Amino acid sequence: MSGATPPERPAERLVGPAADGDESTVEVTLRPQRLDEFVGQERIRRQLALVLGGARRRDQPADHVLLSGPPGLGKTTLAAIVAGELGAQLRATSGPAIERPGDLAAILSGLEPGDVLFVDEVHRLPRTVEEVLYPAMEDFQLDVVVGKGPGARSIRLELPRFTLVGATTRSGLVAAPLRDRFGFTAQLEHYAPEELGTIVRRSAGILAIVLDDAAADEIASRSRGTPRIANRLLRRVRDFAEVESGGRIDRAVARDALDVFEVDGLGLDRLDRRLLEAVVDRFAGGPVGVGTLATVLSEEPATLEDAVEPFLLRAGLLQRTPRGRTATAAAYRHLGRAVPATSDAPALFDADGPEGAPPGDG
Ligand SMILES: Nc1ncnc2c1ncn2[C@@H]1O[C@H](COP(=O)(O)OP(=O)(O)OP(=O)(O)O)[C@@H](O)[C@H]1O
Ligand SMILES: [Mg+2]
Repeated sequence: MSGATPPERPAERLVGPAADGDESTVEVTLRPQRLDEFVGQERIRRQLALVLGGARRRDQPADHVLLSGPPGLGKTTLAAIVAGELGAQLRATSGPAIERPGDLAAILSGLEPGDVLFVDEVHRLPRTVEEVLYPAMEDFQLDVVVGKGPGARSIRLELPRFTLVGATTRSGLVAAPLRDRFGFTAQLEHYAPEELGTIVRRSAGILAIVLDDAAADEIASRSRGTPRIANRLLRRVRDFAEVESGGRIDRAVARDALDVFEVDGLGLDRLDRRLLEAVVDRFAGGPVGVGTLATVLSEEPATLEDAVEPFLLRAGLLQRTPRGRTATAAAYRHLGRAVPATSDAPALFDADGPEGAPPGDG
């Protein structure tokens, strides 16, 4: 970022990807430690069990693992599980933290045999650093340059065998030669509501929160397919329940709590709704450019593109067209507006279907 005035910190969001202050400590407590505690992602879990089981049986480090998928779906959690299941030590760093080849060389030469090296945001490794990583991943060798000027020479060091676990939210930005050096690649997907219900019940058990199944389902259905959001909503519902209902949480309490925190029936928060309302009410459903929307909403265009639009697109409420953003018929219905007769927006949800029905608010 280069401007003289740094962009304002985006408003704190209950459902956005940014982590709030003490969230990270709670997340650690809620993190499953073993593969069989990890809920959902059935296919990946089975494959990973085979990869790790095979390595354990051969008494060798496992193949390098690349985990990709949107924020909050369990990549960091799985990286720790990989180390745990291998009985290995986890060393964690991230792409942007490794600025120069020497930084990586220091990390690699400090590894012990069998260690799991977790590199978060692996797509943000500088190219010069990636080049040091290739021989390390492939042959467990490190080329270092000793000396300076004409007398400089390159020497090759042997590294202990280790397992690299890379994580990325942008798999498309991982350079092909890097991607090819991972023996196992997993693409995490959003969770089904039933899986999120299981996660909410599990987290409630750990945090000693008493809630019934219907309340867990209510939280799950507003969590946008994302465990981190489910856990966050659970904690806000607990806050509400402690004050308003003596701690007891049933579906009605969960609903009231989430209404207070402005998370609606589809999991949209205030900023999501403001964006949709702007497209529908101020720009007649669009198309409208993201720059214009950002000005109207007093937000950064990047915030809208990275933290707001992805879910609206996924939920079929918004569309990106070459001329700008347009609201779908489902968006009109969700906001409780009449769908304009001239709207050429496709009806992605049946008006009477359970998913498209607006929440029963007054
Ligand atoms: N499958 C799961 N079962 C139970 N809890 C989960 C699962 N996946 C994620 N969680 C919970 O969600 C929280 C967020 O997961 P995690 O930090 O691993 O996400 P991430 O993919 O690394 O996100 P980011 O891209 O933002 O780094 C964790 O604290 C964990 O408690
Ligand atoms: Mg992570």
